[in-house]
Amino acid sequence: MSNYLRLGVNIDHVATLRNARGGAHPDPVSAALLAQQAGADGITIHLREDRRHIKDADALAVNEAIDIPLNFEMAATQEMVNFAKSLQPHACCIVPEKREEVTTEGGLAVAGHEAKLSALLAPLKEAGIRLSLFIEASEHEIRAAKEVGADIVEFHTGRYCDAEAQEERAHELARITKAAALAHELGIEVHAGHGLTYDTVGAIAAIPEMKELNIGHFLMGAALFTGLGEAISTMRHYMDAARSQAGS
Ligand code: PXP
Repeated sequence: MSNYLRLGVNIDHVATLRNARGGAHPDPVSAALLAQQAGADGITIHLREDRRHIKDADALAVNEAIDIPLNFEMAATQEMVNFAKSLQPHACCIVPEKREEVTTEGGLAVAGHEAKLSALLAPLKEAGIRLSLFIEASEHEIRAAKEVGADIVEFHTGRYCDAEAQEERAHELARITKAAALAHELGIEVHAGHGLTYDTVGAIAAIPEMKELNIGHFLMGAALFTGLGEAISTMRHYMDAARSQAGS
């Protein structure tokens, strides 16, 4: 198993800041290119139904500009499937979406919806786009993702990151670690993301089956103080350190 852990940088909140005033600044395409230059292995964007940050034109422009893979997060709707087929990103990550939420609050409910999701998402796979499902780290969701034909599962790390008590954090980490082993065993690539910071990334990075982490909000916040390039290289440093410690 290759030991390299990819870092996908989510640039949604560059668009959040731009949209706060309208106009073109700061530009998500410039942020994507800067992230690429700073060592990001991929760029992640989420085109929400309400277009609160990334807009259709941003998605097209970012995909055109970068030389690294685009991970396109989207809700499981026909509108988004049609858009993704014309965008042709490297991967589509299917996320649950509620209009009233501030951020993606939990994993996608795949179990119980396998037939509907398979029918809706099959055209993405037929178009050569890798299919990723953003789910909770639980056995029944992983098995359901397998049935839907997911190439990738991305585990929601929000509960792990938000856990205040040591015991709860250890419990959440054990849940994700166990889920990663099962997904890998079923031939599904393992990713994770949501809420990761310099403090929380190490334990997740150390999970041997982990292939990619997608990180946005914390990096954009850190970038205000240190610049995006430094924020990305610092995150990379914590990921690599945890990985090599786990491997030694
Ligand atoms: N992965 C997915 C599927 C997400 O929806 C998000 C949040 O947009 C992230 C990763 C990144 O989370 P954060 O912005 O908290 O790093």
